[in-house]
Amino acid sequence: MTRITVTVDGVKYTDEVEPRTLLVHYLREQVGKTGTVVGCDTSNCGACTVHLDGQSVKSCSVFAVQADGSEVTTIEGLARDGRLHPVQQAFHDNHALQCGFCTPGMIMQAIDLLGDNPNPDDEQVRHGLEGNLCRCTGYQNIVKAVRDAAGKMSPGAGPAAEQVSSQARSGVSGGGQ
Ligand code: FES
Ligand code: FES
Repeated sequence: MTRITVTVDGVKYTDEVEPRTLLVHYLREQVGKTGTVVGCDTSNCGACTVHLDGQSVKSCSVFAVQADGSEVTTIEGLARDGRLHPVQQAFHDNHALQCGFCTPGMIMQAIDLLGDNPNPDDEQVRHGLEGNLCRCTGYQNIVKAVRDAAGKMSPGAGPAAEQVSSQARSGVSGGGQ
């Protein structure tokens, strides 16, 4: 066993893990972050996507020991003061989910995408999300949601943009940092 210390959604955890424990299993089974889900065993689906030190990663393709000393943000760490993150809100508003299984990973990846490109066109959104699979929606409303969020997160766009910049100040990854 190896001792690791990881900050998950703003809370520091110190735990013993097997060297082979995957980050996704650590998050779900030891930290209790079951909002991060496992959708495949081939690192293909993206359902397990989280942010590791501000970058999106498929947490089934990272060992927990590799996150030692790092900061992880999961879907459960995005809402602030009872308000959804603008990307979460946009998925809701644009009916960008059906069964919802892909949604946590899709949202984490979308936030990373918008951090790199705050104003993507449809093709850039599709390209940025190509590692995340959805078998329900046909992707159309997901693309709409990400572009809707982009508009609301742009500087000066009002409360949603302010929420993202206050999250950036308080260390939550993504959202245009
Ligand atoms: S569970 Fe990680 S990519 Fe599918
Ligand atoms: S909403 Fe069902 S897999 Fe995407």
